[in-house]
Amino acid sequence: MRSALCSALLLISACHLVPKKAAPLGPAPAPLPTPPGVIPSHQVSEVEVPPASVRSDALPGFTRGINFGNALDAPREGAWGVTIQPEHFSMAKAKGLDHVRLPVRFSAHAADKAPYEIESAIFDRIDWVLEQAQKNGLSVIIDLHHYQELMKKPTEHADRLVGLWAQIAKHFRNAPASVAFELINEPCDDLKPALLNPITARALAAVRSTNPTRIVIADSYFWASADELKNLELPNDPNLVASFHMYQPILFTHQGMSFMAPEFQTRGVVFPGPPAAPLALVPAAEHVDWVAKWFAGYNSEPIATNPNGPKAIFDYMKTVDEYVAKTRRRVYLGEFGVADSVDPASRENWLRLVRKEAEARHIGWALWDDGGRFRAMNVGWNSWIPPIEAGLFH
Ligand code: BGC
Repeated sequence: MRSALCSALLLISACHLVPKKAAPLGPAPAPLPTPPGVIPSHQVSEVEVPPASVRSDALPGFTRGINFGNALDAPREGAWGVTIQPEHFSMAKAKGLDHVRLPVRFSAHAADKAPYEIESAIFDRIDWVLEQAQKNGLSVIIDLHHYQELMKKPTEHADRLVGLWAQIAKHFRNAPASVAFELINEPCDDLKPALLNPITARALAAVRSTNPTRIVIADSYFWASADELKNLELPNDPNLVASFHMYQPILFTHQGMSFMAPEFQTRGVVFPGPPAAPLALVPAAEHVDWVAKWFAGYNSEPIATNPNGPKAIFDYMKTVDEYVAKTRRRVYLGEFGVADSVDPASRENWLRLVRKEAEARHIGWALWDDGGRFRAMNVGWNSWIPPIEAGLFH
């Protein structure tokens, strides 16, 4: 399974390199019909969540949140269909969220040569975000997102990353404690732990010279995989938090996404499995060993052991428990979500279970996201996508 997961994640990475199309921000498409046999969510809740034996210390102000993604993480805000508006904040606040994770592609707004000057316009825009957040009593994580060149050529880009953080930290040095920094979103490709760990330490040192106690978040390798937390070696700093992301099982959460490889294109995967009748796979899925095996289990295993069942989530969270038990460091779930190619009941089931698992451990979470194919809210219509609203808030 481990290698299966690895291949899956490798494919996601390849896919992240494909430029996304701008999604026009109209009303959300009509929900998909619920396939027969999807277990209603109250029964999923009855598959009892094992008591969490290990708890992270809470991160006050960063307990329940949403990513304002597809906006400042695009090459330019608006290029992917999302421009952050005042209503984003009021909608988040009205649901009782306490924070926003703000992915920003700083690398697209800075010079290539030292001292890697960051454009003042991007700081102005983030200042506006912080003002809006403050008005609504929301904390903000400023997350350095999509620095793809750093992933491909870590040694060449390390100084630039450190230079970016020196400037970002200086600019926000007087921001309230409700503003946190996330050093590198989803380290992947060649930014392997042997390089990631020292580069993270250097970026942290740049931040600490102006922000001695601010909360700083560091992601594990492999797109912030929980399995990689054990290889994340961080400096001894009480305000440094480790972060992981959760999109498992990936054949479920990312099914049918056009940016995924052909073996991910089987649609109609319900959560939890097994389905009422065995699901037929797309030919490419039959030809990839780990995918074919996963679907064989999905089609036949009872809910308790189904690879697309609660156990998959519990097992993933156990790796987080191991990390917390060993390091006693606080952890944070910076992204989790299910695409709109999934039927609403399954989306709701999965989201609720992941959220409850995080909360049982006092781990703060942020949904991915407000826009794109994982979109949670219709800003302008002041409405939430029903299965996401139900999974997160009911
Ligand atoms: C990426 C997004 C992607 C999402 C789900 C995020 O980390 O930044 O581009 O849509 O993961 O795959």
